[in-house]
Amino acid sequence: MTTGGARYVISSDAAAEVVRIVRRAKCSRIFVVFDKRVEARAMEISERLSTAGDQVVGTHGVTAGEGIKRLSFINRLLQILASAGADKATVIIAIGGGTLTDTVGFAAATYMRGIPWVAVATTVLGMADAAIGGKTGVDLGGRKNLVGAFWPPLASIADLRALATLPPVQRRTGMAEIIKAAVIGDARLLTMCATFDVASTSLAWRALIARSAAVKVRFVARDPNERGERAKLNLGHTVGHALESASGLRMSHGAAVAVGLRAAGLLSIERGLWRPHEHARMLRALRHAALALHAPIASSSAAFAALGSDKKRVAGTSRFVLPTAIGAVLYGIEVPDVDVRRVMLRCSRPPRGDELEA
Ligand SMILES: NC(=O)c1ccc[n+]([C@@H]2O[C@H](COP(=O)([O-])OP(=O)(O)OC[C@H]3O[C@@H](n4cnc5c(N)ncnc54)[C@H](O)[C@@H]3O)[C@@H](O)[C@H]2O)c1
Ligand SMILES: [Zn+2]
Repeated sequence: MTTGGARYVISSDAAAEVVRIVRRAKCSRIFVVFDKRVEARAMEISERLSTAGDQVVGTHGVTAGEGIKRLSFINRLLQILASAGADKATVIIAIGGGTLTDTVGFAAATYMRGIPWVAVATTVLGMADAAIGGKTGVDLGGRKNLVGAFWPPLASIADLRALATLPPVQRRTGMAEIIKAAVIGDARLLTMCATFDVASTSLAWRALIARSAAVKVRFVARDPNERGERAKLNLGHTVGHALESASGLRMSHGAAVAVGLRAAGLLSIERGLWRPHEHARMLRALRHAALALHAPIASSSAAFAALGSDKKRVAGTSRFVLPTAIGAVLYGIEVPDVDVRRVMLRCSRPPRGDELEA
């Protein structure tokens, strides 16, 4: 698949894909930045590059997580690149989850006004979503992704073998984005999610990841810089980002998106745009992945205030993506604060039976 020129590949031999892509790009030097939790995968990729005759000028291991999405980390990374003599002919290979690819991609976007990079995703969330589409960036002052750039990688590679070490909690948070993709544009994918066992082998994950990635690739290819319908991919993220911010970025992105999806569904039901039984199907798929459907912090003034700093906000209202059917959403729907506050209060508590059983 291609996303506005960038390739997307799911592979059980990510090293071979990286070698192929570096060769095609004719980059003579390579710098590898990796999440220390996937050091073994990174070393295999580095060694295969060296064996293929490519010059790996440096490697740098990082303890990844939301905490690295900050300018101080970018500053350090840029200095490491400069010390290694990275130049326009250097390609950066970023190996890790969404936090790693978001930050390393942003460093690649700004170093010498932009050098090429490759995203090698090692989490479900990264493979299905974050590593695709060229949105890079960091958080600022507790606000998610406030600083960033569109800087597509040469390729996004889903490293299926990395899933072997991925803990259940990270598999579940990845499911939140896959269910999001299903609601946006792939009804069959939701049916698959409804019975999927997150402990499954990488082979079983492959089908889910491929379908989710296909939804993202489709929207990114049509609107790479989010001038319009790419915004549909933000379903569940208006409230989701507010919850992450209110938690001091301690709540995981996937967990926040799961509750954000419920909030968007409730707002859409209130507007007569989305049927309760489709909402219930979405919630049951989230619950099947053992994702919480509520977050006590949703009723806090901090969460509501965090909405106020959302990039998509206009005076007195927030812009939402709202589902209209499994596989279809509307974007840019202005919702008054009073409605958002009511729904957030509801999302601070578990759904009642009728919300789940409709
Ligand atoms: N750029 C985009 O378009 C986009 C889209 C969606 C999400 N995001 C961002 O992605 C981030 C979340 O990504 P994430 O959930 O991958 O988080 P993450 O990068 O923090 O990874 C989750 C955890 O898993 C560990 N890990 C990674 N790969 C592993 C493996 N194979 N085995 C064992 N442990 C492993 C990491 O060290 C980390 O502790 C958020 O910051 C979110 O804003 C970006
Ligand atoms: Zn997301």
